[in-house]
Amino acid sequence: VGRTPLMAGNWKMNLNHQEAVVLVQKLAWTLSDKRHDYGKVEVAVFPPYTDIRSVQTLVDGDRLDIRFGAQNVSTHEEGAYTGEVSAGMLAKLGCSYVIVGHSERREHYGETDEWVALKARIALKHGMVPIVCVGEGLAERREGNHVAFCTNQVDRSLDGLTAEQVAGLVIAYEPIWAIGTGETATPQDAEEVCAGIRAQLEVSYGGEVADSVRILYGGSVKSNNVAALMQEPDIDGALVGGASLQVEEFAAICRYYD
Ligand code: G3H
Repeated sequence: VGRTPLMAGNWKMNLNHQEAVVLVQKLAWTLSDKRHDYGKVEVAVFPPYTDIRSVQTLVDGDRLDIRFGAQNVSTHEEGAYTGEVSAGMLAKLGCSYVIVGHSERREHYGETDEWVALKARIALKHGMVPIVCVGEGLAERREGNHVAFCTNQVDRSLDGLTAEQVAGLVIAYEPIWAIGTGETATPQDAEEVCAGIRAQLEVSYGGEVADSVRILYGGSVKSNNVAALMQEPDIDGALVGGASLQVEEFAAICRYYD
C-alpha cells in the first residue's frame, strides 16, 4: 500500500518564540544533511498558534520540505468567540494539517467526539487535513475494551464526513497511558488497535478508503522504539510530543529506516 509515512512533531505548549525559530532552522538544516536519507517520510511540525506565522515565513522563504499545522481549531467560522482561532485563519497561514481531539484537549477542555467531528469538518472545508486523535485510558486497557473504545471514538469523531473526505484523513492512535510517561505501547499493542481502526474504517467506508487513511501511533515515541513500531503493517507514522522538541532525536525518528 502506498501510504507515505508521516512524522508529526506536536510541540504542545512549549518553546518561546526564539526557541521555536531556532528549532525549525536546525531541523531544516538537519533534514538537508545528505549523509542521511530523509526522503521516505513527510515531516510536519505543530507549533503553538503564536509561532505558526514564523514557521510559515521560514518554510516559505527557504522552500523547506517541512509541513506545518495547528494543534487545535475552533468549531466556528468567525465571530464573537474570544480566544478561539478559526480554520480560515489557519488555512491562510498555510497550515496543511490540524490536530483535532488530542487526548489533552478531551481531558482538560472537555472536548467530546461531537466537537471533534465538527473540528474535522471545518478543517476539511478550509482545505486542511485533520489529524483525528483517539486513544484509551488505563481503565479501558485493563478491562480489555481498548480496541472497541478506540473504534467507537473513530466512528463518532468522523460523524458527518463523506467517504471521500475520510480517504484523505490522518488518524492518530495515542493510548493515554503512554503519553509523556516514557511508557510506550509495544508494537503489537499499537498494531492491534491500529488494525482494529482500519478494519472499522473498511466496514464504514469500504476497503479503498480504509487503505488510504494514514494511521499514526503516538505515546513516548523515541528514536530507539520507532523502527519497531513502523514495521507494523497498519502504523503509518508517529505523532511525537516530547522528542519532537529535540532536533537530533526528532530527525533520527524521521530516518528510522536509515
Ligand atoms: O501529541 C503527541 C503525543 O501526545 C505524544 O506525546 O511523545 O511526549 O508521549 P509524547
